Amino acid sequence: MDSPLAQRLSAGLARAEAQHRLRRRDARSGAQGVECCIDGRRYLNFTSNDYLGLAAHPRVLDRVRHELGGQGFGSGSAALLSGRSSLHDELERALADYTGMPAALLFSSGYLANLGALGGLLERGDLVVHDRLNHASLIDGVLASGAHHRRYPHADVSRAAASLGEQSDGLRWLVTESVFSMDGDVAPLATLEMLAAEHGATLYVDDAHGFGVLNDGRGAAASLTADSRRSMVLVMTLGKCLGSVGGVVLGSAELVQYLVQHARTYVYDTALPAVCAAAALEALAMLREAPQRVGRLHDRVSRFRTRATAAGLRLSDSPTPIQPVMIGDDARALAVAARLLAEGFYVRAIRPPTVPAGTARLRITLTHDHEDAHIDALVDALVPALNP
Ligand SMILES: Cc1ncc(COP(=O)(O)O)c(C=O)c1O
Repeated sequence: MDSPLAQRLSAGLARAEAQHRLRRRDARSGAQGVECCIDGRRYLNFTSNDYLGLAAHPRVLDRVRHELGGQGFGSGSAALLSGRSSLHDELERALADYTGMPAALLFSSGYLANLGALGGLLERGDLVVHDRLNHASLIDGVLASGAHHRRYPHADVSRAAASLGEQSDGLRWLVTESVFSMDGDVAPLATLEMLAAEHGATLYVDDAHGFGVLNDGRGAAASLTADSRRSMVLVMTLGKCLGSVGGVVLGSAELVQYLVQHARTYVYDTALPAVCAAAALEALAMLREAPQRVGRLHDRVSRFRTRATAAGLRLSDSPTPIQPVMIGDDARALAVAARLLAEGFYVRAIRPPTVPAGTARLRITLTHDHEDAHIDALVDALVPALNP
């Protein structure tokens, strides 16, 4: 007789399999980049969030090798013990400066940054108004806080306004991603900024996919007013455009000081290894020196969109490196991804619960390093894969 836990596990896995929602893990050998190698076969990779091609850039690797000698690898303890190095300090200052935000606080991941910031800042009587398609880390942070919350239909500013107008004795918050991680569209930030100001709400923007992409790389904050930047909360990850790992919350110096006291994922977590901060610092220096990297990335996006549209593919309204190809049915999405894989294209099917039921899709991402020929070959393969 199986234990109660074993019964739960096998029933849950069987259900996921029957619904075509079982998640499968691959193990890459070698670095990820435009190509990736899995089980000895090389694929053209269209799944990476290393949009600017910096994760394995020789200059970043040289810096990491250099710092590794001096710093070692593990940070040894939490940031409030001996885990925080001068590289953490330098990166916090550099990120604040680059984004135009007053101050920054590093976490070990973007997920932990959201959990820690929302958990530390929200109180039970507060009202949180948030986009229905927000990332899991935002949803988890809001739910765990016990604050009242209202989810508005994706990017629907009038519904967001109506919810912000609800009675509340606590603080009001308006929480959104800048670039939505599974759709690639950009939030109506200027309108949300106005709404937040009108209702006395704090604007909280997750710029995980906007930093390095929007506003010549400076991210979402660059299009907001100086007043907003002083009062808002901005979160980003080092794991996408900066090619490293880690997360950061940006806001006023007082906000950072408050989070150092109240963000549990900051206080009780082993600090990010200093070499991860060094990798991000080097990547940031490269972005500052050569913002044309961002221009080339957008050029890659345009080429994909132009070619795909000419080939009759229906694309969604995304101006960013995240280009979803909507399929709808979970089994069909898996079949299309399997066909592309067989042709040598590494593209994954994204299914519920990551995206809403009935909206399974291929999440194609373009990066700085994709050549014209790579993009054209993908479009040529997509057409028959979608219309077998
Ligand atoms: C919008 C958004 N926020 C936060 C995160 C979490 O960042 P990290 O991967 O650094 O934990 C992600 C990453 O997938 C994301 O897409």
